[in-house]
Amino acid sequence: MNIAIDGPAGAGKSTIAKIVSAKLGYIYVDTGAMFRAVAYNCAQLDIDPEDSDRIAAVSSESDISIKYVGDVQRVFLNGTDVTDHLRDEAVGNMASVVARIPEVRSILLDLQRKLARENDVVMDGRDIGTCVLPDAELKIYLTASSAVRAKRRYDELVAKGETPDIDVIEKDIIERDERDMNRDIAPLKQADDAVLVDSSYMTIDEVTDRIITLAREAGA
Ligand code: DC
Repeated sequence: MNIAIDGPAGAGKSTIAKIVSAKLGYIYVDTGAMFRAVAYNCAQLDIDPEDSDRIAAVSSESDISIKYVGDVQRVFLNGTDVTDHLRDEAVGNMASVVARIPEVRSILLDLQRKLARENDVVMDGRDIGTCVLPDAELKIYLTASSAVRAKRRYDELVAKGETPDIDVIEKDIIERDERDMNRDIAPLKQADDAVLVDSSYMTIDEVTDRIITLAREAGA
């Protein structure tokens, strides 16, 4: 059984996917973390994010793999666990830039499909329902307004003791969505057979309950 959750940055995909996968006993596959690992690799090697040829070459020589510690996904780059370096805004923005490169997508696509073939998964990303798992039993397109998404991110950063500017956060979110929605290969869009869930005015529990209900109807 495969459940695909796609949507724009900050819609709450990973929060919801973690809860849903734990409730169903499935594995949570965070595909954004894989693109973030590629971006992190480029940053470490001081490669210009726009240098597609170099990034494609480096990515084909690098080994990105996933392991589960309990039910938590850890991402390994050339054998080193880099998971804790991947959550920065800068890495997320750079991930969106390297995600336009066909060779990068193709390497990660194989890894994503293998995980879904071998396990019951809840997989989140941008192109899971449209491209990675077109036959997923349930597809969700999870979204929220950019203002709500920026406010959630702002609250998270404030809780960590940071002093962010909410307008800058919203601007970055809108820019990232535009890049993810308008690239040539596997752009972010709702699959024809995906269920639209707008979480702008829903609690985490409400969103989770809705997806669990849909998953049960789909045979989970
Ligand atoms: O979900 P996230 O914020 O961790 O993803 C970071 C970036 O990676 C996102 O802006 C675009 C890219 N990405 C992608 O192109 N396809 C996916 N399936 C997942 C992420």
